Amino acid sequence: MAKTPKDSLTILTDIVLPADTNPLGNLFGGELLGRMDRACSISARRHSHAIVVTASVNHVAFNKAVPVGSVVTIEAKVSRAFKSSMEIYVDVWIEDRESQIRSKVNEGIYTFVAVDKNGKPIAVPQIEPETALEKERYEGALRRKQLSLILSGKMKPTDADELRALFVG
Ligand SMILES: CC(C)(COP(=O)(O)OP(=O)(O)OC[C@H]1O[C@@H](n2cnc3c(N)ncnc32)[C@H](O)[C@@H]1OP(=O)(O)O)[C@@H](O)C(=O)NCCC(=O)NCCS
Repeated sequence: MAKTPKDSLTILTDIVLPADTNPLGNLFGGELLGRMDRACSISARRHSHAIVVTASVNHVAFNKAVPVGSVVTIEAKVSRAFKSSMEIYVDVWIEDRESQIRSKVNEGIYTFVAVDKNGKPIAVPQIEPETALEKERYEGALRRKQLSLILSGKMKPTDADELRALFVG
């Protein structure tokens, strides 16, 4: 049965401590990547009810530095499911201490694969996007999957129909 992105919504809220920072006093990129990976992993697990592994990190944009003491909220949702793989979109926010207003600092796109106890890929439920943003992310997911497979040497560019359509029209 198909599921919605909301079913896999995962929200991790945590504070940035001095041990998590680089010499400028901002959150260390690797620490943020780890937190994003954990949120995506939980999201993929909620969607598939299976063991999941990270297959690729397709995109991460470190748009703004995250200063020590920040309260960071990481929100991950499955944007599209294929046969055994799932694309997970993760958005990262910080909140202003006084106003509590949130601003988006980073985002990432991860691919997870559901596997059995022997690490063999298994089928996952499909996704039915609901909101305009979920629909936009769903639509682009096949292009991003094909690009990721080409970059990892697992697909020939000539086989990437969806990607080619973007350029040929
Ligand atoms: C991810 C993994 C299970 C894929 O296994 P595989 O033998 O390549 O299996 P397949 O070729 O059938 O690929 C399975 C799915 O992953 C997708 N996939 C594999 N590599 C991908 C990549 N780089 N980008 C996007 N999707 C990818 C395939 O397209 C396929 O998707 P689909 O079933 O939805 O169509 C396997 O490579 C693995 O176990 N890797 C290690 C994972 C891990 O330990 N991660 C933590 C790193 S520390």
